[in-house]
Amino acid sequence: MIKTITTTPYADQAPGTSGLRKKVPVFQKPHYVENFVQSIFDSLDGFAGQTLVLGGDGRYYNREVIQRVLKMAAANGFGRVLVGQGGILSTPAVSNVIRKYKAYGGIVLSASHNPGGPDGDFGIKYNIGNGGPAPEKITDAIFARTRSITSYKIVEAPDVDLDRPGVSRLGDMNVEVIDSVADYSALMQQLFDFDRIGDLFRSGFRMKFDAMSAVTGPYAHAILERALGATAGTVMHGQPLPDFGGHHPDPNLVHAKEIYDLAMGTNAPDFCAASDGDGDRNLIIGRGIFVTPSDSLAMLAANAQLAPGYAKGLAGIARSMPTSGAADRVAQKLGIGMYETPTGWKFFGNLLDAGLVTICGEESAGTGSSHVREKDGLWAVLLWLNILAARKTSMLDIVQGHWATYGRNYYSRHDYEEVESDGANAMMKMLRDQLPSLKGKTFGALEIAGADDFAYHDPVDGSDSKNQGVRILFPDGSRVVYRLSGTGTAGATIRIYIEKFEADASRHNVETQAALGDLIALSRNLSRIEHYTQRSAPSVIT
Ligand code: G1P
Ligand code: ZN
Repeated sequence: MIKTITTTPYADQAPGTSGLRKKVPVFQKPHYVENFVQSIFDSLDGFAGQTLVLGGDGRYYNREVIQRVLKMAAANGFGRVLVGQGGILSTPAVSNVIRKYKAYGGIVLSASHNPGGPDGDFGIKYNIGNGGPAPEKITDAIFARTRSITSYKIVEAPDVDLDRPGVSRLGDMNVEVIDSVADYSALMQQLFDFDRIGDLFRSGFRMKFDAMSAVTGPYAHAILERALGATAGTVMHGQPLPDFGGHHPDPNLVHAKEIYDLAMGTNAPDFCAASDGDGDRNLIIGRGIFVTPSDSLAMLAANAQLAPGYAKGLAGIARSMPTSGAADRVAQKLGIGMYETPTGWKFFGNLLDAGLVTICGEESAGTGSSHVREKDGLWAVLLWLNILAARKTSMLDIVQGHWATYGRNYYSRHDYEEVESDGANAMMKMLRDQLPSLKGKTFGALEIAGADDFAYHDPVDGSDSKNQGVRILFPDGSRVVYRLSGTGTAGATIRIYIEKFEADASRHNVETQAALGDLIALSRNLSRIEHYTQRSAPSVIT
């Protein structure tokens, strides 16, 4: 039976960089989930009888929300929902299932790398029929709808059994519980040379993968240990937990310190990697060498042809604006297009759909390709493994060889997390106000060559996105970028991105923070960040 329930709008349901993210207690407010889900459905056309894909990263509140979305999808007229077993699907797996089964769209329940649990974060994101995050046109419409919503529709029915694969009926809709791993694993086998990677493991190559008690555990066990034959125990923290074991499932040098220490220690494995809460991010570390995500993008692009799925070469590369320019140098050498987009995976969708680019990446540990429309953590790990298997040499050798050929882009991001919003906004305004007068200003030996607020014109749909980050540019290609995070759930987070290009190979082995020292000092003086935030140092440096 379909019921129409009266509701009143919430004022705070604006989707951010990657869907709506809030603390769990906010999502637990009466009708909070239903308002947002109904607003998604109200912003879409023509889905009657169509298929919706549904899954989440298994964090606290996942199961409850899955049940409610199923009942609302039935009430709103979807014909079928494909839902991951146990309500679990990684973000790239959702993207794949949408594409493979030509679904109308999908809903991902995740707050990515943010902590989970009753006081942790939760999130809801809508993906369109190409498998990628909804573009701003749709997220703006969803937000507008949340401001005026007066009712939502839901069927009254018992909960669906999410643990048993198979088809059941909910109102006039079919619910199909699918194996969360099988389709994704099949896609990876099409892209990569599993025999060759298997040979690598058989030759004694050792790897550790930290699933961070998050969604990639079952995927990594199936692909790395069962399909590729890596020894049991290759996958650490492989059991998804609703609170991620109390950790931040964020594969960076702070939260994935255990695997970092392993990679840097004595008797380190040949290759270490990690992925985040919902499986779209990656951390890549060779024995004794951390590879920045920006460098990883460039190195994967330079070597992608070694994997069967990319043997024909790349159409082009895209990176988000704050991501280092390392990939630009690869694109230039390959003679292919290079696109610089605002932060957030949704800006890559059009470029991928139009066939302009094959590989995309962000400095925030996101890399992916045209195989889906999300970034993909395990995909990056498998492409690295394929490259290592084909080149038969160490990570260190590949990384240093890359720098010797292309030069090195020293790169770091300094985050000031959960600072007071007013101060953060005042700092950004002060920087924006200064933009016209910055050119030519000197700070010690550094002279500013230009400064702007990044704007993007989408070459495919012609849309414009403004105010995407303040850029301070220097004559040698060095940059400092400031922007506010669009994914936080408390206060504001200021991100400062610092980059310096070094062509001279004899200067490629300097510690990163030291290599960037004068730019870091400038970035703090220019923004007067300590004054605006009362913080003397960043909370996270990656
Ligand atoms: C962050 C990252 C961005 C990424 C997004 C979603 O967004 O910086 O690159 O696309 O998470 O994973 P931000 O918090 O900076 O808005
Ligand atoms: Zn994520």
